[in-house]
Amino acid sequence: MARILLTSRLPDDALSPIVGHELVMPSSGVPLTTDEVADLARDVDAIVCQLTDRITEAVLACASRLAVVATVSVGYDNLDVEAATRAGVAVCNTPGVLDDTTADLAFALILAASRLLSDSERDLRNGGWTDWRFDGYLGQDVHGATLGLVGYGRIGRAVARRAEGFSMRVLHHARRPTGLQGCVVELDDLLRQADVVSLHVPLTPETRHLIDTRRLALMKPTAVLVNTARGPVVDEEALGAALESGRLFAAGLDVYEHEPTVHPRLLAAPRTVLLPHIGSASFATRTAMARLATSAVAEVLAGGRPPNTVNPEVFGD
Ligand code: NAP
Ligand code: GLV
Repeated sequence: MARILLTSRLPDDALSPIVGHELVMPSSGVPLTTDEVADLARDVDAIVCQLTDRITEAVLACASRLAVVATVSVGYDNLDVEAATRAGVAVCNTPGVLDDTTADLAFALILAASRLLSDSERDLRNGGWTDWRFDGYLGQDVHGATLGLVGYGRIGRAVARRAEGFSMRVLHHARRPTGLQGCVVELDDLLRQADVVSLHVPLTPETRHLIDTRRLALMKPTAVLVNTARGPVVDEEALGAALESGRLFAAGLDVYEHEPTVHPRLLAAPRTVLLPHIGSASFATRTAMARLATSAVAEVLAGGRPPNTVNPEVFGD
């Protein structure tokens, strides 16, 4: 029997793969600090964590028994994967099971930002809708527009499938040319052409502030930017300035540079839809993610090599 730290409560349906092991769970529902995770990690064999938990080199250094960390997220920028590999710790994530749910949310943001749903609903709730105006709340059409996907992996492609139903022209850019229809080799070219830009890259040193002042200036003044990837992919200060000046038409954001803090310039910006990182937040998908993470932990503890290991080299040949 191994000891497994769960940094937050998981749905009962997700616990069956790890039945029989000793589960260590914090009693409060509040996210743990990094120091608390480090402390609890000292005598466990596995950790099931969330994207808010920072599994740093210092945490790993405390965890002499640790064999595996599974984050209940597809993004794994919260973990120091290189340090884990050096320590012989497998790192697992949850690819695939959240693609459609996250793509649904990205598409909801494309529609909501393009058609000014937040501004118009806010005015209605505040009693600001006093008369119907022919030229009130004019937005941008989504149907027939050109969608530029930055990152064309699982979620980017799921968004592309939805765009077909809206008769959109779909372009994409990835690290390497995909050879597929709609591929734009240079990101700057995609930004110049797109009416809607939707971000689907992981957060890496290369993608930090990928969308900065210079690149925002390449976009059409009628364009809409949607970010369901990771906050630091966009320079928020630059985005706030572009929205204030009207240099960019609108933005739909699910993720932020310093979550849960939202840049005050974005909170005040016009034509901006802001959501609290809910891309994968459906009952079914969150349960599937948690189950994929616990299954990976069980497999590693049983001597297996789960396919959702991001550092498979840790298992040797
Ligand atoms: P994925 O299948 O790995 O796709 C990522 C894509 O980004 C790939 O096409 C990849 O190219 C490309 N890419 C990587 N680095 C790049 C760069 N420097 N420039 C251009 N393209 C680059 O990942 P996914 O499952 O679609 O998830 C994408 C991200 O979405 C996750 O990492 C996570 O941060 C975020 N996410 C957020 C939510 C939410 O709740 N808002 C939910 C799920 C996921 P290669 O194929 O060449 O690597
Ligand atoms: C959510 O943001 C994820 O990476 O799964």
